[in-house]
Amino acid sequence: MKAFISGAAGALGQEVVRQLRRAKAKFLATDIKQLDITDFQKTSKVLFDYRPDVILHFAAVSDVDGCETDRDRALRVNGLSTMGLAIIAKRLRAKMLYTSTNCVFSGAGEDAYTEYSRPDPVNEYGRTKLLGESYVKDICDRYFIVRTSWLFGRNAKTYLSRFLAEEKKPASINVICDQFASLTYVEHLAEAILRIVKSENYGIYHIVNSGIASWLDFVLRAKKIMRFRTTIRAIKIEELNLPAKRPRYSPLASHNYEYLFSCQMKTWEEGLNEYITLLLRKP
Ligand SMILES: NC(=O)c1ccc[n+]([C@@H]2O[C@H](COP(=O)([O-])OP(=O)(O)OC[C@H]3O[C@@H](n4cnc5c(N)ncnc54)[C@H](OP(=O)(O)O)[C@@H]3O)[C@@H](O)[C@H]2O)c1
Repeated sequence: MKAFISGAAGALGQEVVRQLRRAKAKFLATDIKQLDITDFQKTSKVLFDYRPDVILHFAAVSDVDGCETDRDRALRVNGLSTMGLAIIAKRLRAKMLYTSTNCVFSGAGEDAYTEYSRPDPVNEYGRTKLLGESYVKDICDRYFIVRTSWLFGRNAKTYLSRFLAEEKKPASINVICDQFASLTYVEHLAEAILRIVKSENYGIYHIVNSGIASWLDFVLRAKKIMRFRTTIRAIKIEELNLPAKRPRYSPLASHNYEYLFSCQMKTWEEGLNEYITLLLRKP
């Protein structure tokens, strides 16, 4: 495998690079400093020079509120650049793997979303990521769309992931209690992605840890294990007055991966245990 990676400085990108390096695989890792994927000419040149057989497209504007306040950037990075990479993948006859999100769903239902549930995004992040999905599906034959949700682990930008990694924790924090979804340990996601991309099992995947939780469930469990003193104050999302709407209930059911690869994703509690073990091992 000879892989091109966009968004390699992000949480998922860094973890995939770490695992590829360990496997001594060939890859070209880029992020915005080396290659701005909104520049189609430059991106084409880099990719046609390198000629990967796999494109791992992780670059995104992943800040949900940022997408609402800068819609043009969200469209260019999440939507149009994905079209550009899909066209390049098709011309190079490379496999294309694109990461998408639970935010393509409205979250208004009572059940977990399967790979074939109907998307109906409620914010600009979800709308632009869904546009990226459409380009990949329409343009590429050999594609994988990997939807994931609420990443935690090394380098994840999510507020609580960073909070757990902090040496000096604040006296108290507010944590949202009325949004429910699947949580995903970034190491488990990277392992699944590298497994999927080596296969010929094209299509849509939901890759998340099993189980459903709120961020409050997550932090309370972490507190029990790590025994930090921070007081946790449960708040409702509306109290934060955020620019973007969020899906209220958007867990993802991981049917295709389990069926096609005969394996089960670990629970989010197992993922959290592994992450905490890693944090406590740090000097
Ligand atoms: N994080 C989550 O909870 C979550 C949930 C569901 C799905 N996902 C999806 O999973 C993928 C990886 O997420 P992540 O958490 O690793 O995201 P991340 O940490 O935000 O990484 C994305 C990387 O892409 C870079 N980037 C932005 N614009 C770019 C451009 N024009 N050219 C090149 N690189 C650019 C970002 O740089 P800057 O930081 O400088 O902008 C960042 O380093 C994304 O597709 C995301 O939509 C994430």
